[in-house]
Amino acid sequence: MGDLNGEFDDSIRERLFCQVCTDDVKKPCKITVVGAGMVGMACSISILLKGIATDMILMDVIDDKLKGELLDLNHGKLFLSNVHIDGGRDYSKTADSKIVIVTAGARQEVGESRLSLVQRNVNIFKHIIPQVAKYSPDTILIVVSNPVDLMTYVAWKLSGFPRHRVIGSGTNLDSARFRHIIADRLAVSPASVHGWIVGEHGDSSVPLWSGVSVSGRTLASLDPKIGKNDGPKGWDKIHSQVVQGAYEVIKLKGYTNWAIGLSCAEIVESILKNKHRVQPVSCFVKGQAGIEKDVCLSLPCVLNASGVGSIVQVDLKEDELEALKKSAALINEVQEGLKW
Ligand SMILES: NC(=O)c1ccc[n+]([C@@H]2O[C@H](COP(=O)([O-])OP(=O)(O)OC[C@H]3O[C@@H](n4cnc5c(N)ncnc54)[C@H](O)[C@@H]3O)[C@@H](O)[C@H]2O)c1
Repeated sequence: MGDLNGEFDDSIRERLFCQVCTDDVKKPCKITVVGAGMVGMACSISILLKGIATDMILMDVIDDKLKGELLDLNHGKLFLSNVHIDGGRDYSKTADSKIVIVTAGARQEVGESRLSLVQRNVNIFKHIIPQVAKYSPDTILIVVSNPVDLMTYVAWKLSGFPRHRVIGSGTNLDSARFRHIIADRLAVSPASVHGWIVGEHGDSSVPLWSGVSVSGRTLASLDPKIGKNDGPKGWDKIHSQVVQGAYEVIKLKGYTNWAIGLSCAEIVESILKNKHRVQPVSCFVKGQAGIEKDVCLSLPCVLNASGVGSIVQVDLKEDELEALKKSAALINEVQEGLKW
């Protein structure tokens, strides 16, 4: 679906070039993004700008819009590292993808919770995931569509993949919002604030205030009540600002896309570069951190070339553990009502 439909002009090529070597030394690294909407395109451009893909395949069911996005990206290839950009509806194009990111599906309306989207998006996944698994049986799936924890579980079940290869973008974004707000209050970079939001990506997410730190110094050691209702002024509002963050953006511009795109590209980079970087992402966590339910939710995970290499055994305070169990119970309750 590029400008010339991938056709070469061999007669001009033969007069212009004297071929010296026909080996393509660069190992292919194909990344597929399913769903070329606001989020899919933000993921795509964030990944393209990292220069880590040799092939970027976009899949969508709205043909003209997809064609337009592909043309637009192809027109920008001068400014990107050498990458083949293509797409369509035919999943054979996605064959042998190293990573497949799924952003397809309905998005929240103003004021709508993520959990209410679920049945619509399960029906869409029933069409997408078996095709992805057929053409890329060894791929790592990254699920972004909401409600992301439930959709990660659904994708895991539909794909038949081992759990380390099915990852939800989870609270990597919520934790970025958390670190950004704290960093602003302390006038430092978000990269210098360490702090984790775990559990559901959404209303029941859990901020781990006990572990928030700047250069190894925990804020709880400065004030044990930090982040609590009866704690220092303003800090108790930060978690609700994180939760409300997406609703606020949706109210203002209709959707969220840039931060999730950047967050997703960071996850992709950790995997493709085998970084062993710890990030809070969603995966199947039964048996971890006191969770007995059959759910996917976010905990800090070591991301490497296998996907989720390990899950960090987090040290949770009693109230954090209780909140995490509640988050798991809420996800599980909705999951049990799904038809698929
Ligand atoms: N996990 C997160 O942190 C996070 C953040 C923002 C948005 N989201 C979610 O991402 C999803 C996409 O949001 P958006 O704003 O890009 O929506 P959008 O409506 O702009 O794009 C969705 C795209 O999916 C496509 N699509 C629908 N069915 C498809 C199918 N069967 N195969 C291929 N493509 C299909 C649509 O044609 C559309 O282009 C939503 O579920 C949204 O809630 C998640």
